[in-house]
Amino acid sequence: MTKKGRVFSGARPTGRQHIGNYLGAIKNYVDMQEDYDCVYCIVDLHALTTLETTKDLRQNTLEMAWDWLAAGMDPNKSIIFVQSMVKQVTELHTILSMVTPLGKLTDLPTFKEKVRDHPHNVNYGLVGYPVLQAADITLYKTNFVPVGIDQVPHIEFTRECVRSFNYLYNTTVLIEPQAKITQFPKILGTDGVNKMSKSLNNDIELAATADETSAIVMKMVTDPQRLRRTDPGDPDVCNVFSLHKVFSQPDEVENINVECRKAGIGCVDCKKLLAKNMNDYFAPLRAKREEFAKDESGTWDMLRDGAKRAEVIAEATMAEVRAAVGLPK
Ligand code: TRP
Ligand code: SF4
Repeated sequence: MTKKGRVFSGARPTGRQHIGNYLGAIKNYVDMQEDYDCVYCIVDLHALTTLETTKDLRQNTLEMAWDWLAAGMDPNKSIIFVQSMVKQVTELHTILSMVTPLGKLTDLPTFKEKVRDHPHNVNYGLVGYPVLQAADITLYKTNFVPVGIDQVPHIEFTRECVRSFNYLYNTTVLIEPQAKITQFPKILGTDGVNKMSKSLNNDIELAATADETSAIVMKMVTDPQRLRRTDPGDPDVCNVFSLHKVFSQPDEVENINVECRKAGIGCVDCKKLLAKNMNDYFAPLRAKREEFAKDESGTWDMLRDGAKRAEVIAEATMAEVRAAVGLPK
């Protein structure tokens, strides 16, 4: 391995990705491809833990794959695949479940949150969600897992799982991964209050057209204290400004920072500039996405090819795991 180690990350197939997903995860996945041996997985089995219907599962998988590919996640540099295409993960999940005390799973903050959000759908698989995630990570002998801060307990859980497994079976087969916490600008939804999320309908999709993007930006909530054009504003509490810091040139950002505070610029002009800059930024991505989306079967082939390459690693790990546990070859 000439690179700095293996990176694995998974994301549930939530369909079209928004700019929060892009800035928080995808952009980072793209950048890591140069220095690390990356494995990126659309975790459809994990999605089943909370889905009430699976009718959109395939479409959501495709939509997410198109955003990933269009953003520059590259099957020639990385392994990109769908979790359920590599069956070994379910085998490792079962084996790891035997070294996992139940209380550890029910104590996790992520589990408690899901129970709160889906009180009528607390299934066995939901409890085991982190075990399946540990199987994802360890199956590919992962060194680093790029995640948001909310996923850190799952990585810590994975490390404990590895220690228990290796201790119980007197082996060093599984590797303890390290979380690589992704730093990214705090971007809220268009409501200016909540984190950007599809379910809150406060998101801007990567695949939105330029016109759709402009229309959404023009409706964004700004500094709530700025009621009239003549009132001075405070960019520090304005999510439009947060996005300018990502998508606009430094001199534009500085100009807004100064002019907003003395009512020298109005929110309409400020938003028009943001929409223009965002549309310029995403134009190449959107053009590529359109091309990928024309070829559904080509996309599945690409994902299956990724799965084949992933399976080679997975099967090698499982051969060692089976030997360590004492299962037949
Ligand atoms: N649990 C992660 C999430 O909800 C998704 C996930 C599944 C994952 N398997 C993974 C993330 C492995 C990193 C590594 O966001
Ligand atoms: Fe926000 Fe821009 Fe309006 Fe200032 S001018 S409040 S930064 S939208």
